[in-house]
Amino acid sequence: MPHVIVMGNEKGGSGKSTTAMHVATALTREGGKVAAIDLDLRQQSFFRYLDNRADYVRRHAIELPTPRRAQPRPSDRDSRAEAEAEERDRFAQALAECGDCDFVLIDCPGSYSTYSRLAHAAADTLVTPINDSLVDFDMLARLDPQTGRVKGPSVYAEMVWKARQDRAASGRRPTDWLVLRNRMSALDARNKRRVGVAVQELAARIGFRLAPGFSERVIFRELFLSGLTLLDLRETDPQAMTLSNVAARQEVRDLMRALELPEG
Ligand SMILES: Nc1ncnc2c1ncn2[C@@H]1O[C@H](COP(=O)(O)OP(=O)(O)O)[C@@H](O)[C@H]1O
Ligand SMILES: [Mg+2]
Repeated sequence: MPHVIVMGNEKGGSGKSTTAMHVATALTREGGKVAAIDLDLRQQSFFRYLDNRADYVRRHAIELPTPRRAQPRPSDRDSRAEAEAEERDRFAQALAECGDCDFVLIDCPGSYSTYSRLAHAAADTLVTPINDSLVDFDMLARLDPQTGRVKGPSVYAEMVWKARQDRAASGRRPTDWLVLRNRMSALDARNKRRVGVAVQELAARIGFRLAPGFSERVIFRELFLSGLTLLDLRETDPQAMTLSNVAARQEVRDLMRALELPEG
């Protein structure tokens, strides 16, 4: 069985698709057989990123390690129960198609869906990127607005908890949940500290590990259009290996190490 890695949270724009692309590419570059599933059926950012990569490869007539794709289609049944049952089957089918892979990388939408819930229950590793501000922290926990202290888990954290229980009940190994602080700013040291304290407090309470985060860098937005990741730059554009990009690439490598994935 492949190791299933899921990028999930219930907020748009926090870095799920960017992280999905970087992790999938890193694993493919290491020689792993990797399949990509994009459950954000509306935005399809992960697959658009892969489309851009295919374009780049064509235009430059080079080879770049690229994960292959699998995709369950949405159900169009009217009855909710029937739609859920059909999507459950289609999800299982999509995963079965990846049976010969070492890793399956699943990108989730920024809101609840049946597919998203199924993916969370299938996750051997769950990565939740959050924008590095207290505003976005409410995706993980409810905070006391006066004191900034954690009052309890959010609906999303409860969904993860439920998905983990379902896994435990079916005898599968527990999900390793990592929260990744994204778009960290060097300037806003006070906010950074406050988020750090709140995340640490919550990590112990609801059971996730803290992954080393990504700094805020313009390069991430530029890379999407070319379909490249920080790990491809040395070959595709040696000039692009600026100090900032080398530091960013190191952040990606630190994340890969922190994931503690099995050997491909
Ligand atoms: N660390 C970062 N620094 C700068 N921009 C980033 C960073 N991470 C993500 N972005 C940009 O933010 C936007 C949203 O990221 P994305 O990965 O699509 O989020 P999600 O999938 O959670 O909606 C994209 O334009 C992406 O390029
Ligand atoms: Mg996305």
